[in-house]
Amino acid sequence: MSNTKIWKGNSTFILAASGSAVGLGNIWKFPYMVGSNGGSAFVIVYLICILAIGLPVMASEVLVGKFGRQSPINSLKKLTIKNQISEYWKFLGIFGALAGLLILSYYSVFAGMAFSYVFNLFPSGLENPSSYSSAYFSHLSASPLVLIFWHSLFLMITCLIVGIGVVRGIGRSVNILMPALFLFVVLLSVYSAATGDLNATLSFLFSPDFSSLTPAVILSAMGQAFFSLSIGMGAIMAYGAYMPEKQLIGKTVLMIILLDTLVALSAGIAIFPIVFSNSSLAVTAGPGLIFETLPVAFYSLPMGAFFSIIFFVLITIAALSSAISLLEPFTAWMEELLKIKRKIIVIFIGLFVWFLGIGSIFSFNIWSDLRFMNLNFLEFLDFVTNNVMLPLGGLFVAILVGWVLPRKFVKENIKLNNYSFKVFIFFLKYISTGSIFLVFLYSLL
Ligand code: PHE
Repeated sequence: MSNTKIWKGNSTFILAASGSAVGLGNIWKFPYMVGSNGGSAFVIVYLICILAIGLPVMASEVLVGKFGRQSPINSLKKLTIKNQISEYWKFLGIFGALAGLLILSYYSVFAGMAFSYVFNLFPSGLENPSSYSSAYFSHLSASPLVLIFWHSLFLMITCLIVGIGVVRGIGRSVNILMPALFLFVVLLSVYSAATGDLNATLSFLFSPDFSSLTPAVILSAMGQAFFSLSIGMGAIMAYGAYMPEKQLIGKTVLMIILLDTLVALSAGIAIFPIVFSNSSLAVTAGPGLIFETLPVAFYSLPMGAFFSIIFFVLITIAALSSAISLLEPFTAWMEELLKIKRKIIVIFIGLFVWFLGIGSIFSFNIWSDLRFMNLNFLEFLDFVTNNVMLPLGGLFVAILVGWVLPRKFVKENIKLNNYSFKVFIFFLKYISTGSIFLVFLYSLL
């Protein structure tokens, strides 16, 4: 990545960063996490984490990237030299870039599944579409070769785009696709709300019921906030490197967070009414939830087949724009380090990620009995990346910008007015750092 390339216009950064943020995390993961973690308590903790931790941490990541204008690792290095602080901070970038590859390995498996649903239209005249869709999903999960095919295809496209380079590869395409997906999810939630059980959904999602709140639920809600916002591993830092000089960090980050949250909540409102009005579907279905639920909604919709295709195409593209950002930090670093072509680098990284992804695919079938700490391979990888690595990465970003960097430097680079700056630092320094720390401590005890 040459450091002179900057995206033109303010909207490209917003679209690319929200392209990274909005993805399977919102539409696939958020609903099933809410379903498996008892509903509203999870949602409320999630929303608090988004505001109290996500907002300041994301702004800090953008600040580092925009200042450094290189891969997260070298941006951090530049930052340490300029401010004469320990060079070890660059390990934060390496740790994040690695987390990105680990996440990508299973992200690509589920993105591949979503891709396969573009071509999967249910036969007409089904008596019970919801039991058909559950059976179909079980069948898909039990077929490693089919899953490997879609995983490979999705990962190849991701590598191809990152190989071309982020500015050329996604700078333009996100302009139309992101708004289209957003509109679609909102329309779908209106349709579901009108035809399914909206009351049950709203009380499940929002009526304050803290009886199911456990340390594990709090940790998962925090992990989900990091995952959904793409923070804690350098993706947003990597994109910050292309942000136009004059663009304001505070306002921009606020918009991205709002958009991401709106999409996640709309996905919840689109999915739960269908679950609550079909006895063969369960909120606790886990990772298969959207794959079992949404086809049922499309089945009953006029021109459903057409909408189903459009929807799964859009979701695949949303996943693609997130996957790109998972691969970018490591690739950009290798490019600067080894000074060889991006196209060659992504082949090697892609192969590594591909192999790791096979492990996740096997967790559904051949390896389903294999356990690490009572979790299968996929669940273990998901736990380590989402609930440990991302929050840990975020904790260190918050410590770096809130506690270690000179206040004057942060102020010059973040360009907030005095009042907002004070609030920002207060949150970063005490609330974000403190709460990540406490949640870790609480869930270890
Ligand atoms: N935020 C993305 C999503 O919600 C996933 C992601 C996580 C992307 C971390 C980059 C970094 O789908």
